[in-house]
Amino acid sequence: MTPAAGTTQPPDLYWDPYDWSLHADPHPVWRRMREEAPLYRNEKYDFWALTRFHDVSEVLADWKTYTSTRGPILEQIRGGQSKLSEGLLSEDPPIHDLHRQMLARAFTPRAVKQIENRVRDFARRLLDERIGSGGFDFVEDYGARVPGMVIAAMLGTPDADLEEIRRLTDAQLVVTDGTPFDRTQFNTMGGQLWDYFMEHVRSRRKSPGDDLMSELVAMEFSDEKGVTRKLTDTEACQYIKLLSAAGNETTARFIGWAGATLARFPDQRAKLVARPDLIPNGVEEILRFEPPAMALARVATRDVVWHEQVVPEGSVMVVIQAATGRDQRQFPDPDPDTLEVERRIDRTLSFGYGTHVCMGASLARLEGRIVVEEMLERFPEWDVVWDEAEIVHTGSSVRGYSSLPIVLP
Ligand code: HEM
Repeated sequence: MTPAAGTTQPPDLYWDPYDWSLHADPHPVWRRMREEAPLYRNEKYDFWALTRFHDVSEVLADWKTYTSTRGPILEQIRGGQSKLSEGLLSEDPPIHDLHRQMLARAFTPRAVKQIENRVRDFARRLLDERIGSGGFDFVEDYGARVPGMVIAAMLGTPDADLEEIRRLTDAQLVVTDGTPFDRTQFNTMGGQLWDYFMEHVRSRRKSPGDDLMSELVAMEFSDEKGVTRKLTDTEACQYIKLLSAAGNETTARFIGWAGATLARFPDQRAKLVARPDLIPNGVEEILRFEPPAMALARVATRDVVWHEQVVPEGSVMVVIQAATGRDQRQFPDPDPDTLEVERRIDRTLSFGYGTHVCMGASLARLEGRIVVEEMLERFPEWDVVWDEAEIVHTGSSVRGYSSLPIVLP
């Protein structure tokens, strides 16, 4: 491979976000990118990439220079606009802030707290069924089922529909080998999900309940033209679909990483068993060590200079926030390639940063904490059947296990 035009990066250094063989462990390549090519150029997919903690923070904080209006995902930008790009994630301030503030009004800490007991009951039920068994699938039977339940609880959709929501949400995003983004599948599955949510929006308008969906349809707000009004059914549906898509896959992958990482570091798992008060920090450490959200993309609105090279206006800038958690500059001690549940973590970029920072971060942390607490209380030790574990590929955006079979002693 020859060096990319205009760069001095080593010819043998190559990162391809669609190279599935790299998804299991991209960290060695990312380490080389941080050290040898802090501004990385990929000619094949025509993007630039940053991997250092401070560089990535700077891009995410500067929405004027790095716009989200063409979507936050590389394959979306390259493939043109799609329904996935509508809404908050594909807006810049001021319109973004208006929409975000509105959603935040329904998405209160009180609402998050209220579902804590429901998450715990659900996690307990799932695990109690497994007591006395030789093992189960940490993702399929446990981790991936919790986030769907949480979203359904927020939206007030019936428990009986959980599996169907999850199937449709995941199916629209999964990417098969060789094709960066399957728009047909996305549109078909997305269409079915849309119809499902629309039906519920209409029924909440007629008979409101005590859930986020009811709050969304009832809430009055001042829109971009200064008119005070309620959301239309279509707007309410867009928000709900966004929450469902943003909260399901990412959190399911995150919980999978918790199961895999704690099995890889049994000494750290034993620490959490002995001292459950360390679990919140342990969850943060897992998010640093294996962030489920891999990379975000932006488009440069002007020429910018990074590491003495010019990135021209209109270029796609990919920020690999999953690489920043192992940046030695930010996490010098202990070695960032090691999991240490007592590590002091001031902040990570695992939930993004700046104007688009994840709105569901406290909810995802709560889910992670409860899932780990309930697991360790019943099953302090487990091994993973690594040969049978499967990594799911969601393009360049999310990385993690779709299946993680574990054996219990
Ligand atoms: C571990 C789980 C999660 C991870 C790693 C994650 C990661 C992220 C990241 C990196 C962004 C920033 C996107 C950007 O800058 O373009 C984001 C945005 C967002 N997330 Fe999450 N997320 C998680 C869970 C959730 C949950 C549970 C919800 C809601 C139920 C949620 C709702 C959102 C929303 C609404 C946004 C858009 C915010 C905006 O554009 O202003 N996320 N998330």
